[in-house]
Amino acid sequence: MSISYNKDTKIFKLDTKENSYVFMVTEFGYLAHLYYGKYLQTDDLAYSLQLDDISLSPNPAGATDRTFSLDVIPSEYSLYGRGDFRESSIMVEQEDGSRVVDLTYKEHTIYSGKMKPEGLPATFSKEENDCATLDVVLEDEVSGLLVHLFYSVFPDSDVITRYVKVENHGADTVALKRVMSLCMDFDRCDFDFIHLHGAWARERHMERTPLIHGKQQIDSIRGVSSAQHNPFVALAERGATEEYGAVYAFNFIYSGNFLAEAEVNQLDTTRFIMGIHPMDFSWELQPGSRFETPEVVMVYSDRGFTRMTHVFHDFYRNHLISPKWVNRKRPILINNWEATYFDFDDEKLLEIARNAKNMGVEMLVMDDGWFGERNDDFTSLGDWFVNEKKIKCGLKRLVEQINEIGLSFGIWFEPEMVSPGSELHKKHPEWCVQTRNRSMSTSRSQYVLDMSREDVIDYIYTSMEAILSSAHIEYVKWDMNRNLTETWSALLPAHRQGEFWHRYVLGVYALYERLLARFPEILIEGCASGGARFDPGILYYSPQIWTSDDTDAIERLKIQYGTSLVYPVSAMGAHVSACPNHQTGRITPLKTRGIVALNGTFGYELDPLNIPEEDKDIVKIQIADYHKYHDLIAQGDLYRLLSPFDSSDHSATEYVSKDKKEVLVQYVRILAKPNNSYVRLRLKGLKKELYYRMEETGNVYSGDVLMNVGLNIPRNCKDFEAVQFYLTAV
Ligand code: GLA
Repeated sequence: MSISYNKDTKIFKLDTKENSYVFMVTEFGYLAHLYYGKYLQTDDLAYSLQLDDISLSPNPAGATDRTFSLDVIPSEYSLYGRGDFRESSIMVEQEDGSRVVDLTYKEHTIYSGKMKPEGLPATFSKEENDCATLDVVLEDEVSGLLVHLFYSVFPDSDVITRYVKVENHGADTVALKRVMSLCMDFDRCDFDFIHLHGAWARERHMERTPLIHGKQQIDSIRGVSSAQHNPFVALAERGATEEYGAVYAFNFIYSGNFLAEAEVNQLDTTRFIMGIHPMDFSWELQPGSRFETPEVVMVYSDRGFTRMTHVFHDFYRNHLISPKWVNRKRPILINNWEATYFDFDDEKLLEIARNAKNMGVEMLVMDDGWFGERNDDFTSLGDWFVNEKKIKCGLKRLVEQINEIGLSFGIWFEPEMVSPGSELHKKHPEWCVQTRNRSMSTSRSQYVLDMSREDVIDYIYTSMEAILSSAHIEYVKWDMNRNLTETWSALLPAHRQGEFWHRYVLGVYALYERLLARFPEILIEGCASGGARFDPGILYYSPQIWTSDDTDAIERLKIQYGTSLVYPVSAMGAHVSACPNHQTGRITPLKTRGIVALNGTFGYELDPLNIPEEDKDIVKIQIADYHKYHDLIAQGDLYRLLSPFDSSDHSATEYVSKDKKEVLVQYVRILAKPNNSYVRLRLKGLKKELYYRMEETGNVYSGDVLMNVGLNIPRNCKDFEAVQFYLTAV
């Protein structure tokens, strides 16, 4: 069994194939964290909890000496107001205004299989016995609160997930002010804090800084997980690399406000917490009611970032992304956004479709601008009816014609938004997120709909359902193009306004659930001004997410590198776009754009009529490459060989199939230098005794030579040039 409890020592041990996680019930009933790391054969770790008399650290009532203090013991779920002055995991305001709770061990249950927080996306078990769950119940006798700490152990995946349920068994109504999904204490602080920061069109850039005393946090209070900070943090041993060193990684399955924080205290220990952002959060818990938090995925790697990535990728492919889609080859799509922006009609779309068909494209996606009076981004969001001035033949007929050409059809929506002056806004001004008696900020000239309201969700569902059932639509791009301001909801009483942010996210998830129940075959691509909501919550519903509005191949190297730390390549929307690039003005070879876009769900975002004659053969090769390498890239193991964050010289990646018989190596020169240095790529993850033939040259190399000596990269690679090598075992 992957979860055990030792009655004598009161120690819990959670085991995966390679890892162990250990904690215990201490004197006074508090839970102390003892260990997370490499697999241990014993749970005999009680000795490791050091209890000393620490000056200024309070002791619980009834203590006979001064050695036990919540201020210093490593906690499984830290408490506010009982002497632990580090970050607390929970804060509850009670009827009399007090905010102290005292959570001690009550009981526990071990289940076979997975438990899941209600109404939230979460990881799932796929087969019997691939997961076991521990539910540890803590009790606060004074308020009658029970807190369940859920730990799900996936032994074969080397993953443990955590979430929390709070139940009010008391007689009074209380307000949850803070409830983290995870608290984890480490007995050391020699870590680097690694996270993915960014901005619009510059998402998920990797940043690494040493921890210092005090607190270091990333967060979002924008209503979406955000382009600025992804809900991912790794604490890595100083000096950890792609292949070496201990890495603890945490990813939050949530698409709204979040907080992730590491705190180094006076004894050089580190606390890490992750959960819904407590800023402007509160949740009323009436007697008999409960609140469940989103889930955190924890990965421990003793072999650096590559192992961490492999664990995340495999785990998300097996236990988060819809099994229906995960290994299914997605259609090569052409999206008309950068080809036309708002300036298109049915004839233009048909012309794009005909030309795209000749290229080998499989789906046309009609982006923003097909509805209401939308000829720019000032109008019509919320008016989800077809603009027949543009789509003169009607949507049904347009889709039929696209299908006759031989392409399937996809459509863009921005369900959560409304434009000022739209029909919807005129009819239901009260449906916008707004604070009474205050003016409303706009962003991209639009307002946000109050997704915490069921009537709003009903309206959006009904309008989308009408469009989606009116024609043969096989794909939806679900966009979300602004952050939330003046948050308040007309349907919530004053003392419950702190529930708004989370209820908004629950509303988004509920709409996803409803649409997918009605249209189970539709492929939804998540999007939020590019990648501002690229998180595991959205990934649960959308097997692919538009990675960034920046389609420049060179910019994409960093964006895709950062994203690949956690998220499988099969999830990253990546398109070949026109040159000069619309975001950067950069001119890159079409070949490079294709190689970079292969690292994701491949497609085009340009007007095929403008592809020069001499480039058409390159497009044919790109499409053939997509078909040829799809399974290897989407299902294989990714190795990052050269980082674009280390220098402006180059970037390189490698994919190896699970059976190690197929290998794809991609090298992109960023900036060339006069008299370039030699580059030799030492490959990774091969079988040393196998021989591999390189398709491009016919040369045969042994696995050990490729891994220890390496592949020579042509020295004369120019700015933005890319090369690709395909090797198969002979
Ligand atoms: C966002 C998306 C783009 C495009 C536009 C349309 O910016 O990220 O891909 O769909 O909206 O308005």
